[in-house]
Order: sequence, then C-alpha cells, then structure tokens
Amino acid sequence: MILESLKDDILALKKELHVSIVAHFYQKDEVFNIADFVGDSLQLAQWASKDANPYLLFCGVGFMGQSVKILAPQKRVFMPRIACCAMARMIDVDYFDANVKLLNDAGILDKNILPITYINSSAEVKARVGQMGGMVCTSSNAKKIITQALKSGKKIFFVPDCCLGQNIAIEMGLKSAVIGKDADFAKADIICYNGFCSVHQLFDVEDIAFYRQKYPNIKIATHPECKPEVCQLSDFVGSTSQIIEYVKGLPLEQKVAIGTEYNMIKRLRKDNTYVLSSTKPECPTMNETTLQDVYNTLLSIKDGRFENEITLDEETRKWAYVALNRMFEL
Ligand code: 13P
Ligand code: SF4
Repeated sequence: MILESLKDDILALKKELHVSIVAHFYQKDEVFNIADFVGDSLQLAQWASKDANPYLLFCGVGFMGQSVKILAPQKRVFMPRIACCAMARMIDVDYFDANVKLLNDAGILDKNILPITYINSSAEVKARVGQMGGMVCTSSNAKKIITQALKSGKKIFFVPDCCLGQNIAIEMGLKSAVIGKDADFAKADIICYNGFCSVHQLFDVEDIAFYRQKYPNIKIATHPECKPEVCQLSDFVGSTSQIIEYVKGLPLEQKVAIGTEYNMIKRLRKDNTYVLSSTKPECPTMNETTLQDVYNTLLSIKDGRFENEITLDEETRKWAYVALNRMFEL
C-alpha cells in the first residue's frame, strides 16, 4: 500500500519534471516496474542517450550511468544510488597502467598492445583504453570486437573480467593468459586482467552436475562472466538479453537452470525455471536502489538540490567516448 502511493507520487513527479527512468534487468521488482525502459547496459545507454527528456534517472550501477553521460553529455543524469559494480571497482587507471608496465617488462611494448575494456569499467579506465587506441565491448558483442581487434596483429589486453576474456578465447580457439596466474604472455593472443564478478563466481560445475542428475533433460544457460569450466558445460552462454531471448525460445515444458543474477531469473518465467545455485545470486549493489531512493532523487531535482548527479570532466569523457564509439563503428 505504501509502495503503491510512492509509485503514484513518482509517476506524477517524473511527468511534471520531464524525467525519464531506466532500469537494468538486475534491479529489484519495485524499481523495475516503474521504469520507462528496461534493458541490458548497452540497450539502456543507447535508449537513454537518444531520449528527448532533459533529465534521466538511471537505476543500475555507476558505470552504466556514466555510459549515458559519455554518449550524451548535454543530458543531466542522476542515480537514485550511485551503487558501484564490484568488478568495475577492481581496476582503476593506476592498476591499468601498472599492468601495462608488467607487459612491457615481459617484452610486450605499448605499440603491440591493443586494450579492450568490458563496458563494466569506469569512465577513467575507458578513457585510458581510448588513448591507447583500444575500445569497449559488452558481453553480447565481445567476440565480434575481439575478432576485429585481432586483425591489427597486436596482443589483446582485456580488462577487467578474466572470465569473459577466457571464455571468448576458448570459443574462438585462441590462447589466453591471466596476469597474476599465468606467466607465459608471449604465447597468448588475449592477456586478461585478473578481475571478476563475485555474483557470477557463485556458479560451479557441481551445480550443473546437481541439476543434470536431478533433471536429465534440463538445459543450462549461463552468463560469460561465469567461470570458463562452468560455461564449457553449459548448453547456452550469453549476455543478459541473450539469455532472455534463449529462455523465451524454449518450449514451456523445457526445464532450464540459469546462472546469472537472481532478480532477472525470477522475472523470466514462472515454471520449469531454476536458479543454478543454492546460494542466492543477488548483485548486492544493484539491489541497493529502492523506490524510496527514486522518489528522493526526483524531489532533489524538483527543489534544485540535484543530488547524485553523474558528472565527468571533459577530457575523460572525450577519450571514453572515443573507446565507446570504436565499438559502435565495429
Ligand atoms: P549486461 O551488459 O548484459 O547488462 O550485463 C551487465 C552486468 O553487470 C552483468 O553482470
Ligand atoms: Fe557488476 Fe557482477 Fe553486479 Fe554485474 S552482477 S553489476 S558484473 S557486480
């Protein structure tokens, strides 16, 4: 009842103030259900940067709100919570540079390195990648981007997710190495930074064995942020929107166990759908945003306090745009 009246107040305020609200697939229901547009990180950035309203409320994690600001600097972007993606926080520009130096020390010079950053990274890291001639990718286009990038003859330095980097390498029959784990960079086509998503690390080969034993005909669908050994045993590996499409295409009686974030799985379909883990795989920071936060942020726009606004210095934005735009060009 309280949520219902909050919802009505939010809808009235957003109309009065010309604010659009977007929400990522991992947001909790109360927030997800009031959004003008829902999607994966790339779809949200593309939709929001073309939206006519001057104000945007982005319900997701920090790098996603930044992506809109990079693409549409004229727009005022607010986040009900400036929640961070734990994986994106595993790398900053200093760590990026230190890892490039490690590669230089191993005999791989800057001119032979092409950096690619997963979209789950800060604007500053994207900017550094842009300055070094590199580009951004998402989990849905990583294979395409890496295929194009390899034509340069350079080694790919892939940040921050080592699982996505390794999974793409396996899929493409390439060699990969993870900094800090593997010493032989010379033979690797893709050298991965050692970041990871703690949520997607929850899924294990034992979970797959459990479900396959219980339901022999079950399908297993996982996100490429899961460990390589988990993805290799899956029937389908794809980004959030690709998993949604895959499950929609299955007959209703087909059982499927899914390895990605809990809120998204639970909304997918009611029957014959299982979470591929006995531990609840909620992204803690995605779940920080509440309907009350959305309301408070709208109020702050109304009374001119403009809380939780995403801002970027122009130099960072410009170079991050270069890296993002190279992805769009490809
Ligand atoms: P998408 O790019 O598919 O939205 O995924 C983002 C993410 O954080 C997955 O864990
Ligand atoms: Fe980041 Fe993992 Fe949360 Fe996605 S699920 S936002 S990668 S911490």
